[in-house]
Amino acid sequence: MLTSPAASSLSYADLYARWESSPWSATAIDLSVDARQWRDELSETQRRAVLWNYGLFFHGEHVVAATLSPFIDAAPLDEQKYFLATQQSDEARHAVFFTRFMTEVVGLGDSATAARAATDAHLTWGFRRTFGRLERLSRELQLDPSPQRFAAGLMLYHLVIEATLAQPGQHLFEEHLERDGILPGLLEGMRNISRDEQRHIGFGVKALADLVEDPSCRDAAVEMLREAMPWTIALYIPPDWDESLVESMGFTLEETFEKSIESLDSKLRAAGLPHEELNGAWPQDPALSHSERARHVGAMLRAHLVGDGSRPAIHDPTAVGYLFEAIGLSIDHRQAPPRRVTLAWDFTDHEPWHLVVEDGRAEAARGMPASPDLTLACHFQDWVDVATRRRDPRRAMLARRLRPRGDLRLLLSLPRLFGT
Ligand SMILES: [Fe+2]
Ligand SMILES: [Fe+2]
Repeated sequence: MLTSPAASSLSYADLYARWESSPWSATAIDLSVDARQWRDELSETQRRAVLWNYGLFFHGEHVVAATLSPFIDAAPLDEQKYFLATQQSDEARHAVFFTRFMTEVVGLGDSATAARAATDAHLTWGFRRTFGRLERLSRELQLDPSPQRFAAGLMLYHLVIEATLAQPGQHLFEEHLERDGILPGLLEGMRNISRDEQRHIGFGVKALADLVEDPSCRDAAVEMLREAMPWTIALYIPPDWDESLVESMGFTLEETFEKSIESLDSKLRAAGLPHEELNGAWPQDPALSHSERARHVGAMLRAHLVGDGSRPAIHDPTAVGYLFEAIGLSIDHRQAPPRRVTLAWDFTDHEPWHLVVEDGRAEAARGMPASPDLTLACHFQDWVDVATRRRDPRRAMLARRLRPRGDLRLLLSLPRLFGT
């Protein structure tokens, strides 16, 4: 079993050999106790929570199994292709296992297609965006199997989806099943899946580390991370913010964020992409602890400043402070203007904020500065939608939802500065 994400000491042949030496059967695991417990022992709350949480896994496994083929074609080395072929069979095995759980234990039809249709309504906005992007990226990779596209694919598939979203959840779920002593077949399957995923992530980290020595591949991977970040942080928000779906599994949303942040941080470093070199793609302060960063994400999500935008933004001063801190940390220092500039937000329904950009760094603060270089007048909600990339800033300006005044050349440089 891989115990460290720093898989660079392992060769692709080693990773392949580990696949051969750890076989398991999705069809042989006994689910009869699970079926009896589901029917006779689990409470309604437990059933809802298990169905929602594992429903996300079930759909995720289906999508990753269906999108991996172009990665095999695009991989430059034969040894990488051989390993990715084993990964594809693993992902199919995971999807088959979850299909068995959903059909034999939960009783959702008699096929993967039927079970997926029955659980489709459980998918969150963040899930649909993240996995929808993976489906598009897989098609793009088929048309353009370039190293740059492959690097972007590894970032989304292996580092964001597998290492940030799936692996921390798997560990928390295993702990939950063990602690509550329920669903032993599901627990056995999850343990096997976790072992497979560790191997996949080890491959992704290694393959990305090999590619990012080329600056164009490095940029492509980092830009993929920047694109995925707003969806990723919202993937695990339960429907209608019903946190009992998470907490009845024995952990909080912030604990899942913390584990995700910790995992992404370590894998990026192992891939040769430390936080300091991400050009604002991960707009958090790396000097803060993982739990503090998780708390910031939780506060912004709870105030609806990030996420799906289905609820109006709450003017919570602490969360708004975190949002502007994130905006400041999102600048690409390579695109920063050579002189000190001040951007101001003149909100019609909220106190003003501003950002001072100097020496490639940006500092956010409350209030209206004396003579900003550029001022954006708008409703607070409209800016939140732009900042979280749910609203296109150019269209917002055309519709007069965003009204700039001041240095228009600076305005034109903002998309590059913020990597949009
Ligand atoms: Fe998987
Ligand atoms: Fe995987």
